Amino acid sequence: MTVRLLTGVTPSGTLHLGNYVGCIRPAILKSQAPDTESFYFLSDYHALIKCADPARIERSRLQIAATWLACGLDPQRVHFYRQSDLPETLELCWMINCVTSKGLMNRAHAYKAKVEANVNVGEDPDNDVSMGLFCYPILMAADILIFSANFVPVGRDQIQHIEMCRDIAIRFNQMYGAGKDILTLPEALIDEEVAVLPGLDGRKMSKSYDNVIPLFEGGEKALKNAIYKIVTDSKVPGEPKDPDSTSLTAIYEAFANHEDKQSFRDQLKSGLGWGEAKEIVFDKVNAEIGPMRTKYEEYMGEPDVVEKILQEGVERIRPMAKALVQEAKHAVGLRTFRVQAQEQKKSKKTKTVSPVLKQYRDTDGLFYFKLIDSDGKLLLTSGKLASGKEVGKLLGQFKTQGIQALGSVFCQIEEGVTEKQIEAVRLALISD
Ligand code: TRP
Repeated sequence: MTVRLLTGVTPSGTLHLGNYVGCIRPAILKSQAPDTESFYFLSDYHALIKCADPARIERSRLQIAATWLACGLDPQRVHFYRQSDLPETLELCWMINCVTSKGLMNRAHAYKAKVEANVNVGEDPDNDVSMGLFCYPILMAADILIFSANFVPVGRDQIQHIEMCRDIAIRFNQMYGAGKDILTLPEALIDEEVAVLPGLDGRKMSKSYDNVIPLFEGGEKALKNAIYKIVTDSKVPGEPKDPDSTSLTAIYEAFANHEDKQSFRDQLKSGLGWGEAKEIVFDKVNAEIGPMRTKYEEYMGEPDVVEKILQEGVERIRPMAKALVQEAKHAVGLRTFRVQAQEQKKSKKTKTVSPVLKQYRDTDGLFYFKLIDSDGKLLLTSGKLASGKEVGKLLGQFKTQGIQALGSVFCQIEEGVTEKQIEAVRLALISD
């Protein structure tokens, strides 16, 4: 069975080596596995939550798309698209918004952290909290649910969001599925093998710590400069060094094979100078990144090529998204009136009234009959008759001989009704 893998990258800045090692490289590897259908997208609507600088968003979208392509993402194999090119996500997002309790969102880590930070500095708890930030996990759930993804490769910080996505899907299915799981429950895929790359100062490489090594931006020179800025102790060449005293080793190891890893450690222990060590690290990283950088620059120089790839990516999968939204809309009751019209027509047909020849006794104690056509319209009313038996006899005659048989009895024919019409109704009556 084919499994569906889905993940999003928020284009709110440029990518660094930690993103490459921790996310891009493993995701591309996973997309090459047999029996997997991968959905990788730029979560550019999510970017609006973090970034209110349109020029930066515009630049970042292109940079990140170009990065993934340059790093080997095969757009024929992977569904590669932009979130904002798929409006169906927002349609589903609203429907699941309506089944998500506010309390669930109150518990989201990112929101809680923001509130806590506000409170700590004596600000209003809601300061700088947009509804976008508050509802961030719901949009993320829509991204995942719209393609019925089975696995979502994410970092540990995103596990809670996947759990929330499951909670939301369960609730929607319970409320509207009528026994069917309209929405598929995803699982977080945490790759224990994948290294969390430390930055220049030894803490996790992150833009928020300003300790990053750029992936492509600034070219080879920027990569070299950053690597040379990695913090080490002040031991001089010849002095034995602790390989784990610097992030240099972990960064090297993210690019090296087993033998090289061992030899790098051994060399440091036997006195390799930090300067030389940095050169070795740069060469190793650049050997992998360099050829990709050339491709990256090509894509950056041809935005229309990237645009075409993303458009083709989204067009291929839009029918799937449309089908799911259709199913969800139907489930919640947002149905086309055509179905109702058809049902009404059907029930009308089965209910079509036949003409009636009705006999009755009125409040005066006397007997009467009347003729009503199939539209319920009264055609004629008889005069007074002394008994039910007399009515019966007369009706029998009317049925076999027509209006003339009523001859002597006074009949009131409704205005505008012709004998021809009465005859047609009589024929319908006897054919019933
Ligand atoms: N929240 C993710 C991030 O900040 C990006 C993202 C958006 C995502 N939608 C997603 C990840 C769906 C996985 C699945 O990086």
